[in-house]
Amino acid sequence: MSAQRLSVAVIGATGIAGQQFLACLARHPWFKITALAGSPRSAGKPYGEGIKSPNGATGWWAEGNVPDEFTGMVIQDSERFDPGSVDLIFSAVESDVAKMLEPRYAAVTPVVSAASTFRMEADSPLLIPGVNSDHAPLVKEMAERRGWKGFVTAIPNCHTTGMAIALAPLHKAFGLKTVFMTSMAAVSGAGRSGGVLGLDVTDNVIPYIVGEEEKVPRELAKIFGVFTGGGVTSAPLAVSCTCTRVSVLEGHTEAVFADLGMPATVDEVKAAMRDFAPTELGGLPTAPEGARLIHVHDDPFRPQPRLDRDRGEGMVTTVGRVRKDAALSNGVKFVLVSHNTKMGAAKGAVLVAELLRSQGLI
Ligand SMILES: NC(=O)c1ccc[n+]([C@@H]2O[C@H](COP(=O)([O-])OP(=O)(O)OC[C@H]3O[C@@H](n4cnc5c(N)ncnc54)[C@H](OP(=O)(O)O)[C@@H]3O)[C@@H](O)[C@H]2O)c1
Repeated sequence: MSAQRLSVAVIGATGIAGQQFLACLARHPWFKITALAGSPRSAGKPYGEGIKSPNGATGWWAEGNVPDEFTGMVIQDSERFDPGSVDLIFSAVESDVAKMLEPRYAAVTPVVSAASTFRMEADSPLLIPGVNSDHAPLVKEMAERRGWKGFVTAIPNCHTTGMAIALAPLHKAFGLKTVFMTSMAAVSGAGRSGGVLGLDVTDNVIPYIVGEEEKVPRELAKIFGVFTGGGVTSAPLAVSCTCTRVSVLEGHTEAVFADLGMPATVDEVKAAMRDFAPTELGGLPTAPEGARLIHVHDDPFRPQPRLDRDRGEGMVTTVGRVRKDAALSNGVKFVLVSHNTKMGAAKGAVLVAELLRSQGLI
């Protein structure tokens, strides 16, 4: 990899995902943030002021403090931001805003997005490095088809990511027919502007998250789909889920029930997960140690979001309670925890950019 770092912009830099981009990219060996952009609310302000709420409270969400190099960086207006001023753009805005901004940016510069807008576009890969890295060359097709210099590739919904990672080695080794999932999602998953009021979620479980249950099945089928050169043929998977919001800050917990394509023992399932270390992640700066994307607990009281979300600096999906499910033909069930604002958002997007860079696609 060239010693020259690519210049990058973060759009929606003040939000929860945006802040995680800053935390991850401060001192990143391949990428250097040279521009931040936001809405007219924050545009024109130094970043340290832009993250303050109207009452003056600092809304820094990520660990530690705002990295020094960003506190004085002036936030640009996303509508007037020149995409040609950087080599790569990370987008962390809501989907309605992404729909307006991302095509304009991608006409000039590659965009890796946390928003849902482009996830199901036929010419855009929905990447989780190590799970479907072979879909990455679709970005070239997108640029060609649309006459753009860049492209937009989105990361999956934060409910889909951990489940896709945990199921990937099972899909590969045994096949996958049907998946049921119930999530207990963290409040940070709703972001600050959409937000869940503390008053509503504390001491409570909210049994509905708008739009989430429709996204997960189609995203999982696309991720496990077959890349044909011109697009991705979704996997013939039946997926059903219930997504709930619980009083946890970070880390989505999910109870997963999977009907495999062939019988497998609990030990075989655990071994497949433990051995999952995709070689193409080797050398990517944000990949977990040894490219091991899954940690499997034997302790039946794990995983727990508070104890397990930060494993591998938020890049490892932690699985526990692996057992047979006699209600399904080749049933297996387990519980997982995945960090929604790290692997499920900013750091997952940075890992995608690293994969694309390692494949010479940016
Ligand atoms: N939170 C998660 O766990 C998570 C996980 C996966 C994916 N995502 C996705 O990531 C995106 C951001 O989510 P979030 O949780 O970070 O939301 P958030 O905390 O509400 O932040 C969104 C930010 O977007 C900015 N914004 C609003 N209008 C804008 C505009 N016209 N131009 C530029 N910036 C604008 C706002 O910044 P100003 O201060 O400039 O107004 C706001 O801080 C969403 O698409 C979400 O679905 C989030």
